[in-house]
Amino acid sequence: MVLNAITNRKSVRVYNDRLVTDEDIKSILNCGIMAPSWVNVQPWQFVVVRNQEHKDILSQAAGGQKQVSSASAVICCIADMSAWDADKFAKIMEKQGRNSQTIDYILSSTMLNPSLLGEYETLLRTVEQMSYAIGYMTLRAEELGIGCCIVGAVSNELTTKDKNTFVSIKEMLGLNEKQVLLSMLTLGYEKEFMPVKKSRKDFDEVVSLEKLGSKF
Ligand SMILES: Cc1cc2nc3c(=O)[nH]c(=O)nc-3n(C[C@H](O)[C@H](O)[C@H](O)COP(=O)(O)O)c2cc1C
Repeated sequence: MVLNAITNRKSVRVYNDRLVTDEDIKSILNCGIMAPSWVNVQPWQFVVVRNQEHKDILSQAAGGQKQVSSASAVICCIADMSAWDADKFAKIMEKQGRNSQTIDYILSSTMLNPSLLGEYETLLRTVEQMSYAIGYMTLRAEELGIGCCIVGAVSNELTTKDKNTFVSIKEMLGLNEKQVLLSMLTLGYEKEFMPVKKSRKDFDEVVSLEKLGSKF
């Protein structure tokens, strides 16, 4: 089943008017929430946007990409760097049953706690965790027969130097300084079926045995 979803998934950018139900959106989100993350920190927030005016604003922030405004719903995927704050991070670890000695060790290790290294490292690690959640959501959407497209070309802290261009988007979504609109997942039913075309690098170009360049 997973193989089917991986093989058949493609970016869908043109949708018909059929509504994607809240139930299906919740099922997609639940798959994202199930994703693994670093010490289970789960540094993500998701904001579901249905409102047409808001979708239009998000589309503009994504350089006018039409799949954002025409989607039945848009899942805004928020990289939440505040999840690494010591109190929040410790709480998650306590919930998992880790003892205070282990928690103190994790919180004080730069290898395990990127927030000790700085904002850049924290953002990098947060983005890493988000990729799993977003990947899982795309596969669940595929399994439900719902088309989706990841939209990462959006005005945010990673793509735009001038904060003023995205501050209103952050306000609209209720984000704070430590929360970044990383990407959006547009959801809708494909208007006209397009066959899957996987244009990928050859296996041997990206896979090696023991050392890069040695064929597996
Ligand atoms: C992190 C990320 C950001 C992306 N951003 C956009 C985007 O802004 N607009 C878009 O049309 N597609 C976007 N895509 C979709 C890719 O273009 C697409 O996955 C790639 O061309 C492979 O095609 P496929 O998804 O149909 O297999 C993004 C994909 C990823 C993983």
